[in-house]
Amino acid sequence: MPLMEPYRIKVVEPIPVTTRAQRAQALTRAGYNLFGLRADEVTIDLLTDSGTGALSAAQQAAAATGDESYAGATSFHRFREVVEDLTSYEHIYPVHQGRAAERVLFSTLLKPGQITLSNTHFDTTRANSELIGCEARDLPCPEAADLDSREPFKGNIDLAALEATLTGPDAGRVGLVIMTITNNGGGGQPVSMANLEAASRLCRQHGVPFFLDAGRFAENAWLVTRRDPDYADADPRDVARAAFRLADGCLASLKKDGIANIGGLLAMRDGDLARRCEVILTATEGFRTYGGLAGRDLAMLAQGLLEVTDPHYLRSREASAAHLADLVNAAGVDTVQPPGLHAVYLNAGRLLPHIPPERFPGHALACALYLEGGIRTVELGTLMLGKEGAQGEPVTAAPFELVRLALPRRVYTQSHLEYVAEVVGVVAKQATLVPGYRIVESPPILRHFNARLAPV
Ligand code: F0G
Repeated sequence: MPLMEPYRIKVVEPIPVTTRAQRAQALTRAGYNLFGLRADEVTIDLLTDSGTGALSAAQQAAAATGDESYAGATSFHRFREVVEDLTSYEHIYPVHQGRAAERVLFSTLLKPGQITLSNTHFDTTRANSELIGCEARDLPCPEAADLDSREPFKGNIDLAALEATLTGPDAGRVGLVIMTITNNGGGGQPVSMANLEAASRLCRQHGVPFFLDAGRFAENAWLVTRRDPDYADADPRDVARAAFRLADGCLASLKKDGIANIGGLLAMRDGDLARRCEVILTATEGFRTYGGLAGRDLAMLAQGLLEVTDPHYLRSREASAAHLADLVNAAGVDTVQPPGLHAVYLNAGRLLPHIPPERFPGHALACALYLEGGIRTVELGTLMLGKEGAQGEPVTAAPFELVRLALPRRVYTQSHLEYVAEVVGVVAKQATLVPGYRIVESPPILRHFNARLAPV
């Protein structure tokens, strides 16, 4: 597959080039927490693919036409038209970002003591379920546990476990089934259409609402066309349409496949549920035709949602991620297989066996990549997902110690990614010298954002 970005650069932004001494100083100041760095201390920023995409000329042109009317803006109607054509849902609400859709839907639909089921809840999705007093239960398919296996749809939900829960003693407590496409918490792996269909059928049989967490709907659709022979010739937009049709509604962070800097979506079929959501929406986000966004945001999102299913764009995104994974693998670092689209996940636990989970090997690798080459990544391991006791002693380690190299959309070129792979290779050669970390100061929840650490 040729690796050629199907766009050319029209506006450029210089990226900071720093010395090792500057990076060491920045890291110490930030308490060895990459969230504490200033962006101008980062050379290549792979912290997230959320809100970091590059706008197209057509999106910028659309922004200029943004209608900033409080109610009934033409930009809302344009946005609504594009979303309705894509999803087939009648009730469509913009919100400021994905987690706002989670809060509005969950606080309307769920009651304390209920259970939400998912292939894997994203961390804010879990937090919003738990804030209502619900239990967020992940049911990933068994293949997801083998990081090295090249099974095509490791983002699937475990259908047997789903059916067992919907028919077992907890059946009456299940308030919502939510499928994350692609499965970000599970390595950015796609969900197959057959899995979506079966999960949808089970939910219908048992009268449980079935929603998609669809932030990366286009990437999931593309991977379906690439990995399921039944869809080999399908248009990714049609595959996405078919996925939305299987659900009762969706929530989505449009900072991903909306290719915009801000925005989210809550949409559904049920008019009664929609009217109840609207009350919370109006009180906390904004009137139903803007939901906390500017008219120009809605205009850019409408255009971004059209561009994102372009097969040339999706093909090049797949090729970039695969190229980066190949280079990193050749440098001796294993990655979650097969690579998806939005990120490459490094297996830090395997690279740094001398660092035990309570010394945070993923975090250690992320710090080393910053020190070596100014690359900012995020740990998905015991620092983010593990739990500790009252005295700070480790209680549970995360199942895997990973570092996510998230790929912003249309931002970095092949040579940027080759630089990243080179830096990973240099760190891998000196892996035994990479130190572990201890927590010096930590907030009670979501500690990975604000904790201060020190090397040990
Ligand atoms: N669901 C998924 C699957 C996500 O990946 C995210 C955000 C959200 C919901 C929440 O959306 O940020 O717009 O409020 N993921 C980002 C990431 C932050 O880096 O993966 P949001």
